[in-house]
Amino acid sequence: MIYRQLQDRDSSTWTYLLADADTAEAVLIDPVFEQHARDTALLRELDLTLVATLDTHCHADHVTGAWLHQQTSGCTVSAAAVIGAANVDRPLRHGDVVRFGRHALEVRATPGHTDGCLTYVLDGGVMAFTGDALLIRGAGRTDFQQGDAKTLYRSIHEQIFTLPDSCRVCPGHDYNGRTWSTVGEEKRHNQRVGGLARERDFVGYMENMALPHPRKLDIALPANLRSGAPEDGQVPGEITWGPVTVSYAGVHEISPAWVVANRSAVTVLDVRDEAELVDRLPTLSGAVHIPLPELRARLDEVPAGKPVVTLCPGGRRSAMAAAILRASGREEVANVQGGLLQWLHEGLPVI
Ligand SMILES: [Fe+2]
Repeated sequence: MIYRQLQDRDSSTWTYLLADADTAEAVLIDPVFEQHARDTALLRELDLTLVATLDTHCHADHVTGAWLHQQTSGCTVSAAAVIGAANVDRPLRHGDVVRFGRHALEVRATPGHTDGCLTYVLDGGVMAFTGDALLIRGAGRTDFQQGDAKTLYRSIHEQIFTLPDSCRVCPGHDYNGRTWSTVGEEKRHNQRVGGLARERDFVGYMENMALPHPRKLDIALPANLRSGAPEDGQVPGEITWGPVTVSYAGVHEISPAWVVANRSAVTVLDVRDEAELVDRLPTLSGAVHIPLPELRARLDEVPAGKPVVTLCPGGRRSAMAAAILRASGREEVANVQGGLLQWLHEGLPVI
């Protein structure tokens, strides 16, 4: 079992990547639109195949990445049938099971924060992805979007607190960076719904919170009713000059083979030190040479007009060079993956 908990800092959302380590089938729970490149990079670097996205509910504070993953990976989109969102391949109901490899997520309806809230229970109660129903020491707000405190109290007690005490609680958000808890821990210590709290205590607490509305409400709700598709239906921000990928480390990269095949369409920027140019690794004819330590001072020597690919022996220093160029405002920039060593390893010609 592969498990990753990923944060969107802007909305304090937790996204979960789960995968079967043997079959490499993966699911994403509550992906965030703006984190699509990060999540895609992690899936690629771990050699996983995304089979489905699952949203826990119709979010009011961020736009789901479901549609974007569907467009770029061909995965299916799953969400509660009650929401009635467009672009959903598999509308989910209480009792449904979503499988990936040998693992299974049981769907439990846990309304109250919204009427379409689902909790996904992994492998009979190992983990529960509770969305905004049960949070660490808290519970989702119930003051808008069909919220109802009585309903939420019953959902938590009947559908989540009946899981084993050892079951890991993986919430949809945490505004203080807390990562996970357990059912036993929340039954004892949850500030709103744990300990000896009765339904009327919970309702009284929730009805007096007086929270401001989420700042992205007006954007997020309509977008999430389309599973996160933009109004124009276009995949945003696609890089058109070459097959550039963004790594999980955040580096824009391009393959040496593509550079060889498109050599005249790009400027190659070699950032080795002068002394290295005479060692055993060859140089590329036509490459612009600016040692990395001098790059910030010599940016105006990097030719304009063509995309720039950065190169060094191992592809690490050139990644920094690409970052420096991007920070200076150049957008069509990518690091040559693996550098000159990878280039030679692939038997590619040194011109
Ligand atoms: Fe929510």
